[in-house]
Amino acid sequence: MEELVQVDIGEQYLGASPEELHRRIVARKEELAGRLLLLCHHYQQEAVFQHADASGDSLKLARIAAENRDRDYIVFCGVHFMAEAADILTADHQQVFLPDLRAGCPMADMASRPEVEWAWRELAEHIDADRLVPVTYVNSSAAIKALVGDKGGSVCTSSNAERVLQWALDRGEKVFFFPDEHLGRNSAAAIGIADEEVIRWQRGQPLGGNTPEQVRRALVILWNGYCSVHMQFQPQHVHDWRRRDPEVRIIVHPECRREVVSLADQYGSTETIIKAVSDSPPKSKWAVGTEINLVRRLQARHPDKEVHSLSPFQCLCSTMYRIKPAYLLWILDHLVEGRPVNRITVDPETAAAARLALDRMLAI
Ligand code: 13P
Ligand code: SF4
Repeated sequence: MEELVQVDIGEQYLGASPEELHRRIVARKEELAGRLLLLCHHYQQEAVFQHADASGDSLKLARIAAENRDRDYIVFCGVHFMAEAADILTADHQQVFLPDLRAGCPMADMASRPEVEWAWRELAEHIDADRLVPVTYVNSSAAIKALVGDKGGSVCTSSNAERVLQWALDRGEKVFFFPDEHLGRNSAAAIGIADEEVIRWQRGQPLGGNTPEQVRRALVILWNGYCSVHMQFQPQHVHDWRRRDPEVRIIVHPECRREVVSLADQYGSTETIIKAVSDSPPKSKWAVGTEINLVRRLQARHPDKEVHSLSPFQCLCSTMYRIKPAYLLWILDHLVEGRPVNRITVDPETAAAARLALDRMLAI
């Protein structure tokens, strides 16, 4: 796949005031009306989010892009794998753009295709690899989704990981789950798989740091990727809130470690978190374990409720935060001028195989 590098967008953008950027983005959106669809993930900062035509989790946004076939330009304010998923699911005439190419997801980058292929070959020396079913979290590259598609596996999201894991176990003997160890571990526990049947695959170690016997006994093998934003939430934060105010309900994202998820009252995807807080009665109190921009938005949208971050420290997705108004304007200016920049494309062969894995998920 082509390696794209973010260019310096210059002082005319970086030096502009927030008010000027806002005004110019609104004007450019008007010029592109009918052709542009501006999508924002829930973790986007408010100065960008306020310009969204639609918001959602990564999969919901990719689907919205695919449903809006009349929009030629999809500007995806999220991270790289989300823009790739949108390109896979949209029609050929639709073009997807990422305002800052440095907006990647470090967790998705923790599983490269060569590394996973290498691990697969190592596993095949000890188990029947034809009975090993791969499952990848949607937070993964198109190349990984394609590998999973080719090997008969499925994509999952944070809202259906348990169902997809069960499907994979029904289909084969063992599951290889990547890249997020914690989503995998939380989902395995939720469907009643014993801890002893779950092992971790440590990248860079022979047989992932396991003995052949451990690999043979395991039902679920978890790649040791993680989200450093969600890893910041600690069991102590849950205990502190319980002590401070027993009425506070604790809801966390399943990328949090198992110890945190098992102490929480509820867990779920960003969409689930938003729904739980929105549907709760006035005066409800929440401590939320996910990215700070979403927590702040929930606070602002529900002044009749108390919404706190579960952690006393700011848990910010710094790569998502790279999408700033200046970069959004830069993209829109280039679209209006007919000189598109930062287009995200997935080659047709990779896209077809990745689509298989996405379609399997949609059918489960
Ligand atoms: P959602 O799919 O729940 O929006 O999560 C995406 C993500 O990157 C969480 O860190
Ligand atoms: Fe990736 Fe974590 Fe950021 Fe989500 S919050 S995009 S998993 S680094």
